[in-house]
Order: sequence, then structure tokens, then C-alpha cells
Amino acid sequence: MSTPKEEKVPAAPPVDPLEIAAYRYYYKPMAIFFNAFHLRAFVSAAIEWQGNVLDIGCSDGACGVMLMEAVGAPKQLTGIDLSANAIAAASPAAKAVYNEMICANAVELPFDDESFGSLVSNASMLSIDPGLEQALKETYRVLKPGGAFYATVCTDQYEQHYWITKLLHAVGARKLARRYMDKMNRRMQQAHLYTPERWQELFRGAGFEVQETFGFLPLRLTPLWSFLAWTPMRIHGVLKLIPWPGLHRFVSRFYQARFAPLYRETPPKCPPEECGYIFLKLTKPS
Ligand SMILES: C[S@@+](CC[C@H](N)C(=O)[O-])C[C@H]1O[C@@H](n2cnc3c(N)ncnc32)[C@H](O)[C@@H]1O
Repeated sequence: MSTPKEEKVPAAPPVDPLEIAAYRYYYKPMAIFFNAFHLRAFVSAAIEWQGNVLDIGCSDGACGVMLMEAVGAPKQLTGIDLSANAIAAASPAAKAVYNEMICANAVELPFDDESFGSLVSNASMLSIDPGLEQALKETYRVLKPGGAFYATVCTDQYEQHYWITKLLHAVGARKLARRYMDKMNRRMQQAHLYTPERWQELFRGAGFEVQETFGFLPLRLTPLWSFLAWTPMRIHGVLKLIPWPGLHRFVSRFYQARFAPLYRETPPKCPPEECGYIFLKLTKPS
């Protein structure tokens, strides 16, 4: 069987976030859409890796691969995730990017104090349940003084803007809307949906200083994202089974072109209260 296209590390990786996301996720439009904005948040925050880097909640490393293509790789990258299955599913590209991927619980990190110069968490702190506050204390413990923690999390408003939630609210079906939101949040592993202020409070509670907070996925785009995440859209997954790189490239370019206008007209940094997802830069005082 031929190797799926998304497993290869390109010789000259693209640097535009939308291009990276479209290249990697030609078979999943919702992931192209989300990750274009997500990766651009890291680029526009001009993040700088210091020393060894830890990715908390790395899953199968797919997001880490794209992030390193967008912002450049650190010397040493370690990933941890609670799910052994996710780590076992790491692609060759992920294995090439991560020096090690460890199955561990973020509430009890298997590292000495101050082991890492930078930390990153791509939409993962919102999944840690139970133990979010303990996990935040652990992230603080393993970070070197002066180091930065870059985290993305969803807001309390996100679920309210899924297109089906809006439709059900419009016809007065509030209970059904709540059930739909819960189902979607379980699927997306979103256990914590808080206001930007609450997220800042939680990070400060663990000792971090909040250096920057901005939104990157506006609520006005959330109905479209959730439409792309709608179960029937999973049909795109069949593309992965078709070992025809020309078709993969065509679909990549198709979605890149379709999403480009919305992507370009959206500022890379938006007011947090107008967004479904936000980016935070947190530091540990020296
Ligand atoms: C929404 S996914 C995001 C995954 C990845 N960062 C990405 O962007 O694709 C959240 C991840 O956090 C992991 N996770 C949840 N609770 C955890 C915990 N207590 N310790 C470590 N990882 C955890 C899940 O297994 C999952 O892979």
C-alpha cells in the first residue's frame, strides 16, 4: 500500500498557515479551516522557542508537525498525551518532528522541575478533566523561570455559534440545542469552555503572568467551521484511501482557494470576546 501523502515531510515545506493546513488535511476541510487560523495565531504571536520544548496534549503529533512547519522547530521537542492510542497513531512525519512522545497525564508530569524552556498546548488544556488546575500547576513547575507557555483554548461562546445550535435556538428547541452542544464538545474533547477572563484567572492562579491574549477564530466564522465539522462532511475521509497524490493536491488547492478570502480578510489577532478560540502567551517570572 502506498504511503498516504500527508505522512511525508515536504522537502521545502510551505510556510503559509493556510497552505500548510490544506496540504496536511486535504481529506478534512474542517481541519484545514481551523488549523489555518490556529497556526496563524502562533505565527502572528512571533513565538520563540527556548531550549527544550514540551507539547502538552500532543495527540498523534499532527498539529505539532504543522506548527513546526509554520514557526520552525526547536532543538528538542517532547510531546505528552494521556492517550496511548493517539501516540501509537503518530505518523512518520510526527516521529521525525518529536524527539520523544510519551504517554503521561498532565496532572502528574514525569519531568523534573524547570526541565523545559518553552511549553506549548494546542487546544489541549481545555480537554483536561478532571485536574485542570493541577495540570496548570504542573506545567508551571516544569517550565524554567523566564520561559514561555503558548496555549490555545476555546471560549464559552464557541458552542453557542455552532450552526445547529443557532438553528435549534432559532426554533426555540433549547434542550435539544444543549444536547447537541454537549455531543459536539465531547467529540471535540472540549471539557472546559470559559470566558477569556476566566482562562486568564486560571493561568494566573497557577503562577503564570499573562503576557498576551488574543482571539484567532471569530465567532462569525464558527457556523461555517461547525458546518464543515458536520458528520456528513466526514465523507471527505475517503480521499485518504485513494492513493492518488494528484487528487490530493487538487483538493488541497480547491479548499485553499475557497477559504482564502475569509482567511485573508480576518485579522490574525482579534478581540478575545469576539472569538471562539483564543491564544495566550504566559510566562514564568525569572
Ligand atoms: C482536543 S485534543 C488536541 C490534540 C492536539 N494538541 C491537536 O491540536 O490536535 C486534546 C488532547 O489532550 C489530551 N489530554 C486530555 N486530557 C489529558 C491529560 N490529563 N493529560 C495529557 N493529555 C490529555 C487528549 O488525549 C487529546 O489528545
